[in-house]
Amino acid sequence: MVRRAIYPGSFDPATNGHLDVIERAAGLFDEVIVAIAVNVGKTPLFTIEERLDMLQEACRHLPNVTVESFDGLLVRYAANRKANVIVKGLRALSDFEFEFEMALMNRRLDDGIETVFMMTNAEYSYLSSSIIKEIASFGGSVEGLVPSIVQEYLRKKLGSIPLALESKGV
Ligand code: PNS
Repeated sequence: MVRRAIYPGSFDPATNGHLDVIERAAGLFDEVIVAIAVNVGKTPLFTIEERLDMLQEACRHLPNVTVESFDGLLVRYAANRKANVIVKGLRALSDFEFEFEMALMNRRLDDGIETVFMMTNAEYSYLSSSIIKEIASFGGSVEGLVPSIVQEYLRKKLGSIPLALESKGV
């Protein structure tokens, strides 16, 4: 049986923390589908097409990883894609309660799909898409925190990040 996992999220935008989970999941499962949720009740900075492009580029070195978008219930999408595992990243205790609630609800909806949590790399434990957007919107450097394609997209979307600040790592 092919071990196919789904790694769902908003990825608005993807960070190196997400990439770290994707790379580690790619080593554990035969196939990993990174699934960008279309409707999560948030107003995204990036369109679905932009997020697909960023993640596809960032995952190019991983042959068993594909990137897709999905709408509606995650468990329904996972069943349609014949995936039996949902991978979630956990950063800190603050993530736990919400993730626990979602994992239990997803199991109630479909008990054939298992949620597996992966602890974030400590290096990225403070990273989030929203903090990245805030830093970039005020012209701070996000070098080393997001894939380089995401840095380019942030530059295009939010204007140029001052190079003087960037070189100081600010
Ligand atoms: O990156 P995020 O925003 O934390 O990802 C949340 C996501 C997309 C995984 C979650 O909102 C989700 O699964 N949405 C799909 C709709 C769904 O199935 N909701 C019920 C979850 S119990």
